[in-house]
Amino acid sequence: MKLVKTVAELREEIAAAKTAGKTIGLVPTMGALHEGHASLIKAANMENDFVVVSVFVNPTQFGPNEDLEAYPRTLDADCKLAEAMGADIVFAPSAKEMYPSEDMTWVEVTGNVTKVLCGRSRPIHFRGVTTVVSKLFNLAQPDRAYFGQKDAQQVEVLKRMVKDLFFNLQLRVMPIVREADGLAKSSRNTYLSGSEHQAALVLSRSLKKAQERFAAGERNAAALTEAVREEIAAEPMSNIDYVEIYRLPELQPVNGPLTGSSLLAVAVKFGTTRLIDNVILEEK
Ligand code: PAJ
Repeated sequence: MKLVKTVAELREEIAAAKTAGKTIGLVPTMGALHEGHASLIKAANMENDFVVVSVFVNPTQFGPNEDLEAYPRTLDADCKLAEAMGADIVFAPSAKEMYPSEDMTWVEVTGNVTKVLCGRSRPIHFRGVTTVVSKLFNLAQPDRAYFGQKDAQQVEVLKRMVKDLFFNLQLRVMPIVREADGLAKSSRNTYLSGSEHQAALVLSRSLKKAQERFAAGERNAAALTEAVREEIAAEPMSNIDYVEIYRLPELQPVNGPLTGSSLLAVAVKFGTTRLIDNVILEEK
């Protein structure tokens, strides 16, 4: 496996892979890799001849009071994990390499899909995500790009971007990888104290109950969100940002009983750490 830090080097590697007729899988990440990321790299390795993992803490998707500086940076360990999962390239550029000029070109998806849920509390976040992912798509020219259902809204936003900009690639979405105790794996879990981690288990527990109630026939969105909200609010260390349901795809508002496929998503702070989790409520 090769560690590549410049756009020029990555372009050479991609050109060589393409000339050799290889299919390319891209796994965009911000590093601090864990089993969630590993599942994406493994899938990319199974479905493509050549796998590029990007490790870039993307400044444009962090708000002014967010954790850009504190975000964990563990490039050596990331390279080891990426290699063990079958990556051919780790692309870890500097911010200057990805954003050479202060006058920049933005890629922005508009509409409900970027306005609701995390779009409300993180207004510039998705514009940063779509801009950097566009740059990565143009550089790596992947046949397939891998994302986690953990960031369900990000997936909906990126699907929309791929469709609107005619990116010639397949978006592959992988299930949420969890700790044995149910907590969704996240690079931000390292910020949690022991008691905050214990408190945060209420997220997966309450979402699972909602999923069971849905499976048993409950189709009232308000009844489902209120039960989840109450259970999370009963945990003294929690501070709820949102507990909401939207219709899939593209996060349209729910009118009347739930039909088809919907997303039940939560964002909750424990101490200073904001965690997200979700389940898909799908009629069989
Ligand atoms: P990051 O948070 O590092 O996540 C990289 C990818 O790993 C995302 O697609 C995310 O959904 C997936 N992932 C994270 N935790 C997961 C889990 N527990 N199970 C399954 N997949 C998981 O998401 C980003 O980085 C950035 O926004 C990025 C797309 C790289 C753009 O900067």
